[in-house]
Amino acid sequence: MLILKALLFVGCAISSVVAANRSCKCAPTDPCWPSLGLWSSLNRTVTGRLIKNVQPAAACYPGPYQDDAECDHVDSQWTSQDFQSSTPIGLSYPTESCPVLNLTAGQQPTQNCTLGDQPVYTVNATEASHVSEAIRFAKRHNLRLVIRDTGHDLLRRSTGYGSLQIWIKYLRTGVVFQPTFRPSNRCSKSTWKGSAFQIGGGYTWSDVLDEAARRGVIVVGGGTPSVGCLGGWMQGGGHGPAAHDFGLGADQVLEATVVLANGHVVTANPCQYSDLFFSIRGGGGGTYGVVISTTVKAHPTNTVAAQQLSFAPLNASGMSDFMKAVELVYNAYPDLSDQGFSGYGSWALRSPTPLVYNYNYTLSDDGNANFTTGFTHTIAIFGKSAQEAQAIFSPVASKLASSPLSQSLFFNTTYSSFPTYTAYYTALSGIASPIGSSAALGSRLLDRNALTSPRLGETLQKVVGAPEQYTSVNIVFVGGGQVARDGGDPYSGVNPAWRSNYVHNIVARGWAPGADEATRAAVYRDITDVKVAAMKNLAEGTGAYMNEGDRFDPDYLADFYGSHAKQLTSIKRKYDPGELFYCPTCIGSERWRVEDDGTGRLCRRRA
Ligand SMILES: Cc1cc2nc3c(=O)[nH]c(=O)nc-3n(C[C@H](O)[C@H](O)[C@H](O)COP(=O)(O)OP(=O)(O)OC[C@H]3O[C@@H](n4cnc5c(N)ncnc54)[C@H](O)[C@@H]3O)c2cc1C
Ligand SMILES: *[C@@H]1O[C@H](CO)[C@@H](O)[C@H](O)[C@H]1NC(C)=O
Ligand SMILES: *[C@@H]1O[C@H](CO)[C@@H](O)[C@H](O)[C@H]1NC(C)=O
Ligand SMILES: *[C@@H]1O[C@H](CO)[C@@H](O)[C@H](O)[C@H]1NC(C)=O
Ligand SMILES: *[C@@H]1O[C@H](CO)[C@@H](O)[C@H](O)[C@H]1NC(C)=O
Ligand SMILES: *[C@@H]1O[C@H](CO)[C@@H](O)[C@H](O)[C@H]1NC(C)=O
Ligand SMILES: *[C@@H]1O[C@H](CO)[C@@H](O)[C@H](O)[C@H]1NC(C)=O
Ligand SMILES: *[C@@H]1O[C@H](CO)[C@@H](O)[C@H](O)[C@H]1NC(C)=O
Ligand SMILES: *[C@@H]1O[C@H](CO)[C@@H](O)[C@H](O)[C@H]1NC(C)=O
Ligand SMILES: *[C@@H]1O[C@H](CO)[C@@H](O)[C@H](O)[C@H]1NC(C)=O
Repeated sequence: MLILKALLFVGCAISSVVAANRSCKCAPTDPCWPSLGLWSSLNRTVTGRLIKNVQPAAACYPGPYQDDAECDHVDSQWTSQDFQSSTPIGLSYPTESCPVLNLTAGQQPTQNCTLGDQPVYTVNATEASHVSEAIRFAKRHNLRLVIRDTGHDLLRRSTGYGSLQIWIKYLRTGVVFQPTFRPSNRCSKSTWKGSAFQIGGGYTWSDVLDEAARRGVIVVGGGTPSVGCLGGWMQGGGHGPAAHDFGLGADQVLEATVVLANGHVVTANPCQYSDLFFSIRGGGGGTYGVVISTTVKAHPTNTVAAQQLSFAPLNASGMSDFMKAVELVYNAYPDLSDQGFSGYGSWALRSPTPLVYNYNYTLSDDGNANFTTGFTHTIAIFGKSAQEAQAIFSPVASKLASSPLSQSLFFNTTYSSFPTYTAYYTALSGIASPIGSSAALGSRLLDRNALTSPRLGETLQKVVGAPEQYTSVNIVFVGGGQVARDGGDPYSGVNPAWRSNYVHNIVARGWAPGADEATRAAVYRDITDVKVAAMKNLAEGTGAYMNEGDRFDPDYLADFYGSHAKQLTSIKRKYDPGELFYCPTCIGSERWRVEDDGTGRLCRRRA
């Protein structure tokens, strides 16, 4: 009895200290963590939509959720973006805190299934008021708050240890077409005279692209249809196959509805809350408020001519010619872009799965059928014929066809044409990708100087590294054109480095499943200190795309936000003075740190 009393006393004492200690967000092991009764009261204010989070693969582990049939089901769905997005805490890049197991293959748990750095509770919001209530609760109890749409984030910005999560995926009030854009509150500073779509909540591009196809219009969506329309994709910039012609996702937004840190719901456009409008259009997700609706530009559809180019070394002695050919194509991108081409590509040395196929292969050939070292891109040009596209590419084609490249490499170039943008997107571009396996990635926005520099070849060599590293490089060739022209938009918070960018070059390097901590740390260091460093050295004055950047970039503020960093920081202070919204590498995050004491608690940095 005495002991119990003493414990109670200590508990109270700690509780009052921690409650008063605002230097850290309250974590589940702290006495300040809300009681079950308080969580139930939150649940009532959000009409029973509070979820206690459970790892999607919990069924595979001993404990209250163990269920072999369910584990088999989860395993069969595991790599599907749609499956991960349909669970409250599934991610496109899952952590190792609760990996799925294949019971049929006899896999046994080698660890416990824990939440790791995942949120503890989720409000499955379907109305703005649910968002406001969750914000109030987090503020009252000094909780870490996480905003999530699809969970596609690559920098762990839509997750967080010991947090309450607001999930906006099911907050859906409709996708409404406006044949002529109608600005709210008669805002006369909106100059857009074309049509528009109002996207009322957590829709993905696959939802909206269907609507656009029906109306015969183009909206700028992501390269992958599972990306959310108004979450981190748009708020961080948002590239897609139509961006070169019509601009980045952020620059499509004509107005937005935002739930602020004070719980109020406001419309941001060039006439009101114009600073907020600026910051959510490219200044990063999860930072200034919760966006619950946007109205975006719609453009008349067009015909599309596409080129698919792939090449690969016929044998090991073709490696240096392969690298020369890669360099040659990079060199050509700025001019190709200025003439209307844009698209996506990738290349790798010794990829785990083949990148380039030779379907003409017969056993009598001395070449390869399926090349694991290779380059491939699909680029397109709007409003031109396949013949015109071929003519524009021909100077590059003749360089590739000259000796010795033509002897040492396998080449395959095909042209095709499509009556509409949708037909092109469906056939060649918007292909659903499986979720990411464990990998570290980084990137750089490359301008004309970088792409035509004599140092490009050696840089690409450093980026790809040794074949045993299984590095892959992704080429996002959608800059130039309207992306550059939108640099004049005074309400665009997009990283200014995008305006001179032609190629956003992404490098990714993985590790074997179950690799130890030290191995993973070494890969992350290689990305930051060698691969991204080499690209920074080549393209010093540019920056990086925050949504596909190195999450350990020591210069992330300058690289991800460029000259907008200062202005965005003051807008952040104005709209979120209590620092409710936090995500790593987001504006304002420099004032916080994740404790490395094993708890993962989020604490203020000492000034
Ligand atoms: C398969 C795949 C394909 C991709 N393809 C592309 C591509 O083609 N083009 C491209 O530019 N990028 C692409 N990306 C990167 C993508 O832009 C980022 O992953 C982006 O963060 C996804 O945004 P989301 O809202 O869908 O994801 P989430 O992980 O849910 O959220 C990402 C960030 O936005 C915040 N956020 C989410 N919703 C809101 C909201 N309503 N209000 C305020 N903040 C919010 C979150 O807090 C988090 O910080 C791709 C990623 C994946 C995994
Ligand atoms: C606040 O909490 C942090 C982390 O738990 C601790 O280091 C710090 O001393 C506390 N400050 C006060 C004033 O109690
Ligand atoms: C919230 O309430 C609903 C409906 O009563 C219930 O099904 C759900 O389990 C509750 N959530 C939590 C976390 O208790
Ligand atoms: C699980 O393992 C079995 C047996 O090796 C295999 O046939 C099956 O494809 C695996 N399942 C998945 C989802 O990989
Ligand atoms: C799982 O957790 C229990 C209890 O904390 C512990 O005894 C056990 O060793 C853990 N198992 C593994 C595989 O880490
Ligand atoms: C979230 O809410 C939506 C809409 O009511 C519902 O369809 C979905 O099943 C909910 N998700 C979870 C995990 O409860
Ligand atoms: C060349 O590429 C096209 C498009 O990917 C493909 O359809 C065709 O089969 C390839 N040709 C050969 C010989 O591999
Ligand atoms: C190459 O890959 C294709 C497609 O996966 C496959 O059909 C073919 O059998 C492979 N060819 C050889 C020689 O391995
Ligand atoms: C590699 O391929 C080239 C071109 O086909 C050929 O000339 C050369 O002899 C091959 N080298 C080897 C080592 O097989
Ligand atoms: C495949 O073979 C056909 C018929 O010989 C030829 O026209 C074509 O160029 C070949 N394709 C490639 C990529 O080598």
